[in-house]
Amino acid sequence: MADLTTEFLGIKSPNPFWLASAPPTDKEYNVRRAFEAGWGGVVWKTLGSEGPPVVNVNGPRYGAIWGADRRLLGLNNIELITDRSLETNLEEITRVKKDYPDRAVIVSIMVPCEEQAWKDILPRVEATGADGIELNFGCPHGMAERGMGSAVGQVPEYIQMVTEWCKQYYSKPVIVKLTPNITDIRYPARAAKTGGADAVSLINTINSITSVNLDSMAPEPTIGGKGTHGGYCGPAVKPIALNMVAEIARCPQTHGMPISAIGGVTTWKDAAEFIAMGAGNVQVCTAAMTYGFKVVQEMITGLSAWMDEKGHSSIQDFMGSAVPNVTDWQYLDLNYVTKAKISQDDCIKCGRCFAACEDTSHQAIEMSEDRVFTVKDDECVACNLCVNVCPIEGCITMEEVPAGEIDLRTGEVVSADHGDWTTHPNNPSVTAAE
Ligand SMILES: Cc1cc2nc3c(=O)[nH]c(=O)nc-3n(C[C@H](O)[C@H](O)[C@H](O)COP(=O)(O)O)c2cc1C
Repeated sequence: MADLTTEFLGIKSPNPFWLASAPPTDKEYNVRRAFEAGWGGVVWKTLGSEGPPVVNVNGPRYGAIWGADRRLLGLNNIELITDRSLETNLEEITRVKKDYPDRAVIVSIMVPCEEQAWKDILPRVEATGADGIELNFGCPHGMAERGMGSAVGQVPEYIQMVTEWCKQYYSKPVIVKLTPNITDIRYPARAAKTGGADAVSLINTINSITSVNLDSMAPEPTIGGKGTHGGYCGPAVKPIALNMVAEIARCPQTHGMPISAIGGVTTWKDAAEFIAMGAGNVQVCTAAMTYGFKVVQEMITGLSAWMDEKGHSSIQDFMGSAVPNVTDWQYLDLNYVTKAKISQDDCIKCGRCFAACEDTSHQAIEMSEDRVFTVKDDECVACNLCVNVCPIEGCITMEEVPAGEIDLRTGEVVSADHGDWTTHPNNPSVTAAE
């Protein structure tokens, strides 16, 4: 059996699945149940300093985007950091860490961008025995307007400054959580590194308005007739997070810096992809909020089964394996040629591929009178749109054909033999017929 144990910044956890700082980790009751369900670690819901209490809205906090089957694809929230007292949270963290020494307990913190505020809170957090801290420089709503959260995360100099304070007043690992609401994620990541951060975690939520109520003419969620932007997360944000993780993993200045990946992790496969892209572990929020704590069991068994199948005995075995294969566009091989292939056995004759290709792409799909759809190899530019719009998974595939040569003036493939694809040995239908 594959060993899922991870040691992230020297912090051991039985598996790479941590709960991200959010409602699932807001209190002792939740965190104990999460650990019983099998989560390897938690980042406690963000603590603020003592002072004016944090007051959340009493109307709806969440908006959402769904797929046609009502599966939740994107979640939007306008929630603030914890609205429970600092003292209560610190007491609970202390008890939980004592009872679960084998799990990772990280404390997320967001206090004003003043040295004294950090100097005050850090020793109290350290006294809980928690394994490390995560600096919430990412929350895009509510706290940002007060000069915290993403207001700090959008200014690399502030990130560096606060990280330096934390390294000065706290002895355990410091993770800097980055906001995706910036132009180039490498700048804040570099600032975190320069400030002495032990790791970065990303992404926090993305600025968003999920919908407008066309009766009240207000953004949703609507609070007394008004709405505001919230933070977007869930499966829909995974591609954005994966790219940002890749950017940090392959940037020469931050390459090798430990990364805790967050954003849309819903299945073991998402986690494996982030780890292959250089992450040391993953954090999960929306999937737990959608399916409950037990979803981690599927993640554990799925990852473990895949690792066994691939012969990976530990997480370390495949961590970062995909990073060398991320490149810039200009280094892509223009002589690599594929063509779309429609399986007539699987085709349900819906015609989506035809409509998409005929109306918006390269007129490379032919429709016969009895609705048989075939690809015109000479016209197919391998854009992959037909594969993506086809409702039957695996019905249309992109098949590699012998290396062509590109005429750089016309952009056309001028390979000697790819045109005769119907009889080429790489063509699966030819192979099957033999
Ligand atoms: C309701 C809600 C509250 C959140 N609160 C916090 C928070 O207090 N601190 C923080 O760092 N991130 C917070 N987040 C962001 C998550 O930790 C995480 O970065 C984000 O949801 C992306 O992960 P996901 O796609 O798995 O949900 C919150 C997210 C949600 C949905």
